[in-house]
Amino acid sequence: MIELKNVSFAYDERPILKNISFRVDPKESLVIMGPSGSGKSTVLRLLLGLEQVCEGEVLIDGQNICAMKESKRRKLRRKIGMVFQDGALFDSMTAGENVGYYLLEHTDLTPQQVEDRVQEMLGFVGLDSGEVLNALPDQLSGGMQRRIAIGRALLSAEPQIMLFDEPTTGLDPPATEKVLDLIRKLQEEKPIATIVVTHQIVDAISIAERFIVIVAGELIFDGNLDELRDSRDERVNHFLRPFRESFEKVNRRQFVRKEP
Ligand SMILES: Nc1ncnc2c1ncn2[C@@H]1O[C@H](COP(=O)(O)OP(=O)(O)O)[C@@H](O)[C@H]1O
Ligand SMILES: [Mg+2]
Repeated sequence: MIELKNVSFAYDERPILKNISFRVDPKESLVIMGPSGSGKSTVLRLLLGLEQVCEGEVLIDGQNICAMKESKRRKLRRKIGMVFQDGALFDSMTAGENVGYYLLEHTDLTPQQVEDRVQEMLGFVGLDSGEVLNALPDQLSGGMQRRIAIGRALLSAEPQIMLFDEPTTGLDPPATEKVLDLIRKLQEEKPIATIVVTHQIVDAISIAERFIVIVAGELIFDGNLDELRDSRDERVNHFLRPFRESFEKVNRRQFVRKEP
């Protein structure tokens, strides 16, 4: 459904991504990891068709989103929901207006119908609509803002795929857990694929079946958790070294949970 084929990308002739290829199948859950500045957000921007690719293809349902007119690109983009790194809510709009923005602006639904959909969505993302509907974003906690951004993305498209850029960065542990729960719920209840960028390896393990590691614009790993842990690749091991301890801990915990 989504595929990068030999994609290279540069900003002002400075190479950022180097010959990246990977595929995401329908309903698959993928995590992209890598050090800061390695090009993870750039991959998401390319998937949304927000940058022109200099080389290679970015295929959404078999169509190269980079080589098409903006009008067509906008249509294709509707298959993708994106939650940006900082949540990126409209500050001057209430939480309800943020979540219902797309429906109000781009559909024929009545304000009452939109409000019904918004209330339903707030429930889905685990928020009390009586509490948040008319609140401004800065009156809400970081974790609530993040969940509102997810609700907005889900109502702004008919997503077949949801992209999350560092969805838990800056959140405290309880808020982090709520956002991860919500991503897991999405994966279970909605027929969509998820791509999550994170450098929190513990988070990654709990929300993905497949892992990609990008270092300095190069894809150095693509595989499942066992393959990641057992990788003999020197660059993969170097990347994992700081996380080894928490990595093993989570693994053990998962193992213990599976025991009868
Ligand atoms: N708009 C831009 N113009 C020029 N360079 C950029 C721009 N956006 C990002 N970069 C550079 O591209 C590289 C990859 O950035 P990014 O994809 O944001 O990395 P990550 O998300 O892995 O931290 C970084 O070196 C960053 O400085
Ligand atoms: Mg980034």
